[in-house]
Amino acid sequence: MRIVSGIQPTGNLHLGNYLGAIKNWVKMQDDVAAQGGQSLYFLADLHAISMPHDPKTLSANTREMTAALVACGIDPDRSILFNQTQVPQHAELQWLLNGTARMGWLSRMTQFKDKSGKNREGASVALFTYPVLQAADVLLYQATHVPVGEDQKQHLELARDIAQKFNNDFAPKDENGEDAPVFTLPDPIIPPEAARIMSLRDGGSKMSKSDPSDMARINLTDDADTIMKKVKKAKSDAEPLPSEKAGLEGRAEAANLVGIYSAMTGQSVEAILAEFGGEGFGKFKPALGEVLVEKLAPINERFNELRKDYGALDAILAKGAARARELATPTLHAAYDALGLVRG
Ligand code: TYM
Repeated sequence: MRIVSGIQPTGNLHLGNYLGAIKNWVKMQDDVAAQGGQSLYFLADLHAISMPHDPKTLSANTREMTAALVACGIDPDRSILFNQTQVPQHAELQWLLNGTARMGWLSRMTQFKDKSGKNREGASVALFTYPVLQAADVLLYQATHVPVGEDQKQHLELARDIAQKFNNDFAPKDENGEDAPVFTLPDPIIPPEAARIMSLRDGGSKMSKSDPSDMARINLTDDADTIMKKVKKAKSDAEPLPSEKAGLEGRAEAANLVGIYSAMTGQSVEAILAEFGGEGFGKFKPALGEVLVEKLAPINERFNELRKDYGALDAILAKGAARARELATPTLHAAYDALGLVRG
């Protein structure tokens, strides 16, 4: 079992990232260690330059996001934690995979359509080829599982398509004359209860780092007062909570808040509605705020300690990158060889 996943170091780590992905990263780090496998988690800084950005902010965010991941429980001794730029094999493999990825496949990516918006001519080429780099990120390590939120599912399907076409077109033969695939097809791992955490201001759009309103998200770095304020101001509706799950249908904001409570506590939605059914948000929101404060306070405290020492964070990244480069090299070489490129 080999787990690989990444996060862009743009802005703060928020509750959507945490419940959709990072909580699973931490859990899988233990599962995989117990089975003698390996987990690799990285800051996707090369992906971050596909949108307009400020270089100073990006380099600071790379350290801050490293601190946030360690604060959440990623252990740099058990997992390989690194920064994408420090493992140049990612960019090298992307170029090789550009020969296999099809324009039509990339044109169908919903993230490209959303992020380029109406100004497609003005979008960067990197935004278009972004999913090919993402495929390289996971294929480079023969990842078997990729823990992500729902919004990354389409990119993972593309990574599988690229791997399959590359294997079909270029797999060399082994000593028995059988095809020896260069890449493993990875499976996404998406948490059913927190696949898509929505904005606190609009139940129809996902919680995101790029939302201009900070009130739309809970950052893992928010203090207790800010969390309570954001939850109290979160959009809801005038109805009391239903006592059965079916009653949440068509109530996106209510469903999101109950979903967050469920993902944070591990209690089922049914059990939460058995407790709060019939109550209004005046009662439910403070309870949710308290759950969030209680669970996030230790992460916040640890984050504030870790971010004081960029030198120590850089040392974590340097060590992780050295281990990642070692794991990446055999697959990269196999891909060069399969394509007939002379490495010398
Ligand atoms: P990014 O940085 O946008 O988000 C990191 C992770 O958080 C998940 N996520 C969410 N989950 C539930 N609800 C939400 N509102 C929410 N918002 C974000 C994302 O699904 C993701 O798992 N392209 C990726 C980074 C990446 C990557 C990779 C991931 C680059 N290479 C290789 C996996 C494998 C991204 O921009 O994630």
